[in-house]
Amino acid sequence: MDKAQQDALKKAAGIEAAKLIENGMIAGLGTGSTVRFLVDELGRRVQEEGLEFTGVTTSRRTQEQAESYGIKIVDIDDVDHIDVTIDGADEVDKNFNGIKGGGAALLWEKIVATNSDKIVWIVDESKVVDTIGKFPLPVEVIPFGAGHVVKEFEAKGYKPVLRLDAEGKEVRTDENNFVVDLHLGRIDHPQELAEDLINTVGVVEHGLFLNMVDKVIVGDPNGPRVMTNSNK
Ligand code: A5P
Repeated sequence: MDKAQQDALKKAAGIEAAKLIENGMIAGLGTGSTVRFLVDELGRRVQEEGLEFTGVTTSRRTQEQAESYGIKIVDIDDVDHIDVTIDGADEVDKNFNGIKGGGAALLWEKIVATNSDKIVWIVDESKVVDTIGKFPLPVEVIPFGAGHVVKEFEAKGYKPVLRLDAEGKEVRTDENNFVVDLHLGRIDHPQELAEDLINTVGVVEHGLFLNMVDKVIVGDPNGPRVMTNSNK
């Protein structure tokens, strides 16, 4: 699949998911290239159809894009609930375990997801996998002592790589932390790994989102299809 085809599937999933947002809702808006298509469509509906909803965003990037369309964005602490959050993902398996954070927004994404009544992911079909882990697992770490966390991960065989930008500088999250990507190849025991990571001093959050999502809208060449999680 080339990039243009993949973008067409991402766009189709984004447009389909935008239908879930109704007048008066409080919606969580994720981050990434697929969510950009979602926000474009929501912006179109706000401007052309008079849709009125309130958004809580998972990154400053999404906030800027949404506000450019006149979508009302508020701080997460200014709402008492979020009706639905729509976000992208890097991988998802049939047990609805996923990896997120390819765009370094995993911490805010997990906070918004945890406070949402419903979670929907939008992905192109290449993201649906048998076993997660081929996509490097992002872990957000505090800059102070990050070198020691990397060494600890190396000793455990997690194959960590500190994420750098195009100029060779450490990537910073919206909370000014670093991201370490774990090149695991496959993750057979995601729950155990999640517990190990979150119990590592210096780790703020990891990109394993295990059985959190309610519905995945998959961009497929035959049209968007929905995977529904009946175990939540
Ligand atoms: C952002 O940190 C991520 O969790 C994204 O949601 C994820 O990487 C999907 O991004 P794309 O839609 O760009 O593939």
